[in-house]
Amino acid sequence: MKKLTSSELRETYLQYFKSKGHSIISSSSLIPENDPSVLFTTAGMHPLVPYLLGESHPNGNRLCDVQKCIRTGDIDEIGDDTHCTFFEMLGNWSLGDYFKKDSIAFSFEFLTKVLEIPVEKIAVTVFEGDENAPRDEFSAGVWESLGIPKDRIFYLPKEHNWWISGEVGPCGPDTEIFIINDKKCDREDCSPACSCGKYVEIWNNVFMEFNKAADGSFEKLSQQNVDTGMGLERTICMLNGVKSVYETDFFSDAIELICKLSGKVYLSDESTTKSIRIIADHIRTATFILGDDKGITPSNMDQGYVLRRLIRRAVRHARVIGMEACGILEVSKCFIAKYASIYEELGRNSDKIIDELQKEIDRFSKTVENGLKEIEKVLKYVQNNALNGKTAFRLYDTFGFPLEMTVEICAENGVEVDVEGYHKSFAEHQLKSQKGAEQKFKGGLADSGEATTNLHTATHMLNACLKKVLGDDGIMQKGSNITAERLRFDFNFSRPLTPDEKIEIEVMMNDIIARKIDITCEEMTVEQAKEAGALGVFESKYGQLVKVYTIGDVSKEICGGPHASNTAELGVFKIKKEQSSSSGIRRIKGVLVK
Ligand code: ALA
Repeated sequence: MKKLTSSELRETYLQYFKSKGHSIISSSSLIPENDPSVLFTTAGMHPLVPYLLGESHPNGNRLCDVQKCIRTGDIDEIGDDTHCTFFEMLGNWSLGDYFKKDSIAFSFEFLTKVLEIPVEKIAVTVFEGDENAPRDEFSAGVWESLGIPKDRIFYLPKEHNWWISGEVGPCGPDTEIFIINDKKCDREDCSPACSCGKYVEIWNNVFMEFNKAADGSFEKLSQQNVDTGMGLERTICMLNGVKSVYETDFFSDAIELICKLSGKVYLSDESTTKSIRIIADHIRTATFILGDDKGITPSNMDQGYVLRRLIRRAVRHARVIGMEACGILEVSKCFIAKYASIYEELGRNSDKIIDELQKEIDRFSKTVENGLKEIEKVLKYVQNNALNGKTAFRLYDTFGFPLEMTVEICAENGVEVDVEGYHKSFAEHQLKSQKGAEQKFKGGLADSGEATTNLHTATHMLNACLKKVLGDDGIMQKGSNITAERLRFDFNFSRPLTPDEKIEIEVMMNDIIARKIDITCEEMTVEQAKEAGALGVFESKYGQLVKVYTIGDVSKEICGGPHASNTAELGVFKIKKEQSSSSGIRRIKGVLVK
């Protein structure tokens, strides 16, 4: 096996797929644009959804990239060997071009010839078939023809071998590739579905030829796509024969620094190691969120809330291992230095990253102060030297006061905390907010229906109208989220809009609609787009082609689409709400009435 560094693997992967006719595209933002179904980009396919559904991509129908991703579902698992909240996904795509045979052949050649992984170490799974799609004997046959024997090809059901992001959208059966290690398992039916750890998944090739609708039905897409994803960190671990991602070059400098700042030794004991890993993981992720051009800052909502939790949890663990909270800033600088040559935005936004981290650390210490006052009050009324779980949870939920600190202070006062009761309250709360989140995210990633398409066009118009009405060229889009019912648009502005300004915006919007303006789309390089005065996030690399949508003399923006073809299709625009979103950011919710 080739022992590669992370930089070498990124480059080797991209160059291999380039040699197979793929265009290398840039990583997109970590914050999905116009997508209400997820807070963060969780897979390489996210930014490509419109193209998987049939839009043409300016860089052709074979693409590859390394995409920044965040998955926070596993946040409580952080500290073990394998979980990270931030990771990079190597991916290659066919948008209606090659399908199963070539996709599998590429993966096989890359793994066995380029990375020199012995064929004997590879096992694969394929879809066993159900009422939606047949048993994937075709893929199994391709694997066999390449040299994977039948006993290392496993047929598994939908829960294992069907990939979809969330509830609706492009999806399909997949074939997953595993590396077999030396672990022994007693189960006779041990397979990649077994949790023993003998089979480690490194690559997933999804054959996206279906679209799942909100009613649960599957329809065939207009084209057969391939969507693959390989975890960069995990693959590096495997190639270098180390057990944990924290023992690879992604983390080595940061962990050394944390040890220096805390005086602790990594791997000396389980709980210290866990704290060190949590600080490293969370600060890496926070650095990437703050470094993203979308301008997310800590808050009590959406991405800002996740960011806040990551920073505060890291500060808490810093305290546990005896590291000053300001050491967090040094750890962040270490990650900026490590990644800025690959993700330029980290260098560009480095001052902001450090400044926001500092502010959040200060706010957290205030919170802790307030929590301390509250806990003093609570301790006066405690009965039988026991603090009930509900109160401990209230301290956490209302004051942001961490359980560990409650336990610690109570212990100093001879009071025991009902930790089990705390977890019960926590779980009840989580269930409630999960239900809320499910409601909120209904509507779906893959929705390119007429309503969302029209609202998307209205968003571009609104971006232009705000600049005109508020007479401020510094106004910029800070976020957009579209469901079939409404648009939501965030922009930087320091005060609420006046009633007159809101009316003026509506009049201007409806005037553009009445003018029946055609919307046109052109493909050009990112430099040409900039020169043409297009708005948008210029995250693409030099020379990369982008789409630019123009609405007459009203607006010109870099955007993936899709859009209405004429403004007359939109109906009547109305502002439903104008409110503060976070400090210095206003939020407009608007609808189109037919
Ligand atoms: N989108 C697929 C995944 O994330 C490749 O596994």
